[in-house]
Amino acid sequence: MVKVHLRNVTLDNFRECISLEVDKFQQEFVASNVQSLAEAKVNPNLFPLAIYDAAVAGYEKPQLPMVGFTMYDITDGVGFIMRLMVARQYQQQGYGKAAMLEVIRRLKLYPEVELIATSHRRGNEVASKLYRSLGFVDWDIAWAKEQETEIFLKLDS
Ligand SMILES: CC(C)(COP(=O)(O)OP(=O)(O)OC[C@H]1O[C@@H](n2cnc3c(N)ncnc32)[C@H](O)[C@@H]1OP(=O)(O)O)[C@@H](O)C(=O)NCCC(=O)NCCS
Repeated sequence: MVKVHLRNVTLDNFRECISLEVDKFQQEFVASNVQSLAEAKVNPNLFPLAIYDAAVAGYEKPQLPMVGFTMYDITDGVGFIMRLMVARQYQQQGYGKAAMLEVIRRLKLYPEVELIATSHRRGNEVASKLYRSLGFVDWDIAWAKEQETEIFLKLDS
C-alpha cells in the first residue's frame, strides 16, 4: 500500500508546491496552492502540508518530487480537511487516499479535535467516492445544508 510523508512548506519547497497542477477540468474543484498558502499566512488555524512519497521520510532534503498538497483547519472542535490535491502526473497511484489517511491520523492526535470533517464540490465524484470509502458520511449541520455548491461530510467514528 502506498504511504505518504507530509512536510511543512518552507522556503526550500514552496516554489515546487505552487508549481503543482491538477488537470484543467479539475481546477474548479480545488483552490490553487498559492491561494491556500496565502490563506495560511493570515490564518493561524490553517495547517498547509506538502505531500511526498513515504520514501522521503528521514531525508533532510527530499530526494523525490513533491506529489501533492493538503491543508487542514482546526476550529471549534472540528478538524476540517480543507484542501487536497495530487499533481496530475501522480494521480491514480494511491497518494490521495494515503494522504487522507495520514491527515486523519494527525487530526486524531489533537485533544481539541472532536470531529473530523471535509467537503467537496457537488459533482466531484472522485473526491466523493474517496471520502466515503474512508468512512465519511453526510454532515447534518444547519449551515452546511444551505451551501449549494459544496457537500459537507464528517467522519463517522
Ligand atoms: C481527488 C484526488 C486528490 C485523488 O487523488 P489520487 O492520488 O488520484 O487518488 P488515489 O490514487 O488515492 O485514488 C483514490 C480512489 O479514487 C479513484 N480515482 C482517482 N482518480 C480517478 C479518476 N480520475 N477517475 C476515476 N477514479 C479515480 C481511484 O481509483 C481510487 O479508488 P479505489 O480506492 O476504489 O481504488 C485527485 O484526483 C485530485 O487532486 N483532484 C483534483 C483536486 C480535487 O478534486 N481535490 C479534492 C477537493 S475536495
